[in-house]
Amino acid sequence: MSKIHAVITGVGGYVPDYILNNQELSSMMDTSDEWITTRVGIKERHILKDKHLGTSFLAAKAVEDLFAKTQHTPDEIELIICATTTADHIFPSCASMIAGKTGIKNALAFDIQAACSGFITGLELGTAFIQSGKYKKILVIGAEKMSAITDYTDRTTAPLFGDAAAVILLEATSEELGIMDSLIHTDGIGAKHLQMKAGGSANPTSAETLEKREHYIYQEGQAVFKHAVSNMSDVSAQIMEKNNLTKDDVAWLIPHQANLRIIDAVAKRTGVEHDKIIINIERYGNTSAASIPLCIWESESKFKKGDNIILTAFGAGFTWGAVYLKWGY
Ligand code: UT7
Repeated sequence: MSKIHAVITGVGGYVPDYILNNQELSSMMDTSDEWITTRVGIKERHILKDKHLGTSFLAAKAVEDLFAKTQHTPDEIELIICATTTADHIFPSCASMIAGKTGIKNALAFDIQAACSGFITGLELGTAFIQSGKYKKILVIGAEKMSAITDYTDRTTAPLFGDAAAVILLEATSEELGIMDSLIHTDGIGAKHLQMKAGGSANPTSAETLEKREHYIYQEGQAVFKHAVSNMSDVSAQIMEKNNLTKDDVAWLIPHQANLRIIDAVAKRTGVEHDKIIINIERYGNTSAASIPLCIWESESKFKKGDNIILTAFGAGFTWGAVYLKWGY
């Protein structure tokens, strides 16, 4: 019997309308277009302005986009995996909120928390569910309202993040297509360098935590940068080597979009030419778990059936990894 593969058969995406550009940010805090562009590579980010709408709103729009494009219906979906750090509520899950908004009623639905590596972790899980033989149509979503946890008085983090959602449909196939291999790692030493200090069970919300602004992203940028550069570069090179892929065999490399300088380092280490690296950080900033599927959504028309694609991500935890896939259509 031939092996069951999990293949991406459709993509949907959504970004909110409002664009916060570097000029506007510079009027809010002591920063400049020049600093943000040269140090990070971001020009603008999309922000969901409505305070009463959460991540599930963005994700449901992305799922509706996918249904419209692929002609699939909510009834066919058997599993929803939502990778997010910014679920609407601590509970219930964002995945169940998305199911409610999109009319999906026949699916197991849950969230995963692997920060910016959430989407590749979701793909890993989705692939295992498909390969079990029990599930045939799975939505893997990366969705974030990062603006809800970004401190717009802190110039070291405010320019970095944006809001977005994107989703892929994962299906079973007996063809040699889809997710071929993955290498995913975790090292808990990273927690102290990148976290939200309050609002969880170790430090519940209180007047004091609010006063100390501990409900926003805390990041020690340089420490995270160093780990991101070495780990994303190494894991990308390793997955290529493990699968006997030279730089010429790779059609596309899709890195998590946190900093253009990190992306450049991954390019240098793998040798993959710049025109084969998908980059949209300039227009969206770091959308955490949404960044890789957002790149897939925007670049879908460039991909050809059988293209070798490497995805790579790094995020809080630390978590990081790479996925090798063959494009399915
Ligand atoms: O997505 C999950 C993982 N996250 C990442 O991968 C992010 C990794 N880290 C980074 O991308 C970078 O470290 C940052 C973009 C966060 C910061 O860039 P950096 O080159 O590491 O800057 P820095 O923190 O070393 O700061 C350099 C200088 C400092 O001033 P002094 O001490 O040299 O006078 C900062 O105070 O730049 C200053 N600075 C700014 N200046 C203008 C920091 N933020 C700003 C700002 N505008 N927004």
